[in-house]
Amino acid sequence: MSGTAAPVILAADSGPTILAADSGLGGLTIVAEIRKALPQARLAYLCDNAFFPYGTRPDAELLGHFLGVMNRAIDRVQPDLIVTACNTISTICLPQLRAATSIPVVGVVPAIKPAAQQSKRRIIGLLATPATVNRRYTDDLIQRYAAGCTVLRIGSAELVEMAEAQLLGEAIDREQLRRILAPFFARPADAQPDVVVLACTHFPLLRAELQAAGPADVAWIDSGTAVARRVVDVLPPPRGAGIASGLALTSASHGPALQRALAQFGFATVEALA
Ligand code: DGL
Repeated sequence: MSGTAAPVILAADSGPTILAADSGLGGLTIVAEIRKALPQARLAYLCDNAFFPYGTRPDAELLGHFLGVMNRAIDRVQPDLIVTACNTISTICLPQLRAATSIPVVGVVPAIKPAAQQSKRRIIGLLATPATVNRRYTDDLIQRYAAGCTVLRIGSAELVEMAEAQLLGEAIDREQLRRILAPFFARPADAQPDVVVLACTHFPLLRAELQAAGPADVAWIDSGTAVARRVVDVLPPPRGAGIASGLALTSASHGPALQRALAQFGFATVEALA
């Protein structure tokens, strides 16, 4: 006998229940990473489409709204763990949400630290919502982990709309994408970032288009795998209550395009949040 423990195989209905939340469909990029790491988990997703997009809302209004809508989603799902699958909300809500619930909360924040470790040119691009690029939380991350780098910031609500629209079946305007990225790449080659942080969970949905719009040697990084690792680390034992996997809740109406997009990420049941 070797000392290796046998893998624990859980039945599909006995896994932990995880509730992930975002303004729209972006958080699904985080859910996809969590599903890879924890295939037995029962996943629920709050698509807070009544308040989309988050990134142009005043902080106090957004925070008050989010705590209220999460309360209702937690009541419905009874999760073992919550993931705020959105940089815009995570960078303002974590202390208040953790104070409001005893359920563990994992946030998603900009991948500044790995970007600083990876950048050879010492120039990082930060691509986020207008709210996230201006957050104190973001400034602190940069000061702490990327003090030796130049950080160029683009805050774009337009790009969030484009990512959401593409997943709902609309075509992307590649010229518009290039215009949005101009502050990174319409400058001398040695002054361009060699690492770009996708600091909005919507942006990995456009990874291929973003890659095509910039120089070939740029690394586009996000927080998805790190968040999934963190979820595995902090997950408490399942309480055995909860929902069947694949439940999405929406805070506004959901049409067929939204249902198709959610189904693509494993959320076959879509319910209006009561
Ligand atoms: N997906 C979100 C983020 O990570 C926010 C998008 C929005 O609603 O503005 O920041």
